[in-house]
Amino acid sequence: MTTALGIDIGGTGIKGALVDTRTGELLTDRVKIPTPDGGEPQDIVNTVIKLIEKLGGVDKDVPVGVCFPAIVIGGKTMSAANVSKKWIGLEAEKLFEKGLGRNIHFVNDADAAGVAEQRFGAAKGVKGLVILTTLGTGIGSALIYDGVLVPNSELGHLEMGGKDAERQASFAAKERHDLSYKQWAERLQKYYSMVEFLFSPDLLIVGGGISKHHEEFLPLLELNAPIIPAELRNNAGILGAAALAADGNALVITPATEKKK
Ligand code: BGC
Repeated sequence: MTTALGIDIGGTGIKGALVDTRTGELLTDRVKIPTPDGGEPQDIVNTVIKLIEKLGGVDKDVPVGVCFPAIVIGGKTMSAANVSKKWIGLEAEKLFEKGLGRNIHFVNDADAAGVAEQRFGAAKGVKGLVILTTLGTGIGSALIYDGVLVPNSELGHLEMGGKDAERQASFAAKERHDLSYKQWAERLQKYYSMVEFLFSPDLLIVGGGISKHHEEFLPLLELNAPIIPAELRNNAGILGAAALAADGNALVITPATEKKK
């Protein structure tokens, strides 16, 4: 099956589309609905049901992948940084399966984005350690070594100056503190220097909607590894969740071949 539905649950919006998982192309328009206030589990499930209706429904044999901003272990959400604390320890995959009346694949949102970039975007064919970070409501991360995902890395919660890094350096932090790109880049410099010191990546990829404006801040950063914008931007979560669902195994990743850059 090469067609799959990808759904990306974020702190502010829930997005979904049908995807051709061979090519990474969207087969429908992307539907987006605001995340319900409070981010409570059942409200989010109900919004996903609404989203599928808006897409005109999806055949029962189409695989469905859902990505979510939390540590996901065996279908359970083990953290909740920008959604209701009720997600912590919840059998989230089962809750969605009950609500949608079908099997789904459930995965961390940044891991899904990393898988998408590895298959269809900026990390395709890159050997060694790729670290993708998404700069959005929080900071998500995906570690990919020789094409294989090391799931649930949570590098947005590294400590920076005694505080959670994502509170200071995410795109939401830029907005919250009304930072110019230059001021934000100073915080990003501290953040990525720390990530680089700890992990010595071969490539850093920066995703999230704001990566569209990468010329405004990536050239201001000085790092040893190349730091480049994600190619799939806001569709990465959808594409990665759909691709993993189509695999039928959340941890099967296409191996890297040769170095791209
Ligand atoms: C969460 C991560 C998530 C990231 C991006 C963080 O606050 O802890 O699980 O990947 O936000 O949504």
